[in-house]
Amino acid sequence: MAEIWFLVVPILILCLLLVRVIVSKKKKNSRGKLPPGSMGWPYLGETLQLYSQNPNVFFTSKQKRYGEIFKTRILGYPCVMLASPEAARFVLVTHAHMFKPTYPRSKEKLIGPSALFFHQGDYHSHIRKLVQSSFYPETIRKLIPDIEHIALSSLQSWANMPIVSTYQEMKKFAFDVGILAIFGHLESSYKEILKHNYNIVDKGYNSFPMSLPGTSYHKALMARKQLKTIVSEIICERREKRALQTDFLGHLLNFKNEKGRVLTQEQIADNIIGVLFAAQDTTASCLTWILKYLHDDQKLLEAVKAEQKAIYEENSREKKPLTWRQTRNMPLTHKVIVESLRMASIISFTFREAVVDVEYKGYLIPKGWKVMPLFRNIHHNPKYFSNPEVFDPSRFEVNPKPNTFMPFGSGVHACPGNELAKLQILIFLHHLVSNFRYVFHAR
Ligand code: HEM
Repeated sequence: MAEIWFLVVPILILCLLLVRVIVSKKKKNSRGKLPPGSMGWPYLGETLQLYSQNPNVFFTSKQKRYGEIFKTRILGYPCVMLASPEAARFVLVTHAHMFKPTYPRSKEKLIGPSALFFHQGDYHSHIRKLVQSSFYPETIRKLIPDIEHIALSSLQSWANMPIVSTYQEMKKFAFDVGILAIFGHLESSYKEILKHNYNIVDKGYNSFPMSLPGTSYHKALMARKQLKTIVSEIICERREKRALQTDFLGHLLNFKNEKGRVLTQEQIADNIIGVLFAAQDTTASCLTWILKYLHDDQKLLEAVKAEQKAIYEENSREKKPLTWRQTRNMPLTHKVIVESLRMASIISFTFREAVVDVEYKGYLIPKGWKVMPLFRNIHHNPKYFSNPEVFDPSRFEVNPKPNTFMPFGSGVHACPGNELAKLQILIFLHHLVSNFRYVFHAR
């Protein structure tokens, strides 16, 4: 009789193990399977592969191998990358509540944790409405003469220099337009000190985030403090003058929520620095790429010149300012801008984080994983844009298929500054090609 236990016990243990395996398998299935892909080395994941080559090569080769949804691990974070228009829409639009914006803490500290793009929910939508109304076409059309003035003075200052760094100069131009849209006509001493400190923040943004005296990151944090002080001074002055203004600062100062609460100085400063940050590099890179694409296609440049020269003559060679109607009626120049946005895909991808376990097309995106819609892969997919590597503005004579063209993102966090960005680019190009010639040297 005792011997029988020798058989029963192992059989029981085996049965128990089997039940566990079945249960855990069932549990796994009910959560869906992870997308295909490789997680690379422990912790490091595939960070080295991503950073040791052109990131576009990394994303494209992954898409070729695994398809439009794949997993990887970057900088210690498990990620799911999505390269289809449907998947981008799922994350950014239809299921946006399941994904929150995510940025490294060090970057949040530099920009300011109350800046709208770090948030979602009520706070985000209140601030977003303010930003949107400050950059509505009806608001920004009033800025045209001032933007023209900024464009012309930048161009005239270059005319005396044998060579300029296009991107750096475009950054100065975009910064000045940003300051105009935020503060209206600001005293030049304020402008200079804002510029000085903002440039230090900008330098520190991509440095190693070590806050020891002497490091770029530390200097950036100090400059960030200064920026807040300057913004507070400007606010005090404005309050003393009791001036009601319709620029972005005016909108921020006039805001009251449903409980009658106004924004704190901290929230105002963070959002001002946030908007400057979102506006400057993006617009400057776009302009830089446009100049390069036009320079590489002299026939196209001549056609753009002809379009702009007609307006230049209509305005008696700059005696009259550009009108809003004219800026809305530059079809070829507009197509050059959108094709440049597609080709260069300045914001190649964005980041979100899953706030719950999410199932997409039978795949599991676990809670806490980063999710990256890959705009560039979509913009360069021959399924949506034929011969995607060829710069061809005429492709925009027909509207792209829905959700295939997202240079300004999509959904609740889509770019509220897109009209201002396009307006300043059009104005800049008008004055550049009407008055000047340029030669582009790649470095
Ligand atoms: C060519 C120029 C620009 C490009 C390509 C661009 C692109 C984008 C993209 C792709 C997003 C969405 C990011 C995401 O979903 O994570 C975004 C957001 C944003 N952009 Fe732009 N942008 C440009 C210019 C501007 C300008 C001029 C402004 C301000 C005047 C601006 C202000 C913002 C802000 C505040 C957000 C965050 C919106 C939110 O979180 O609700 N951008 N931009």
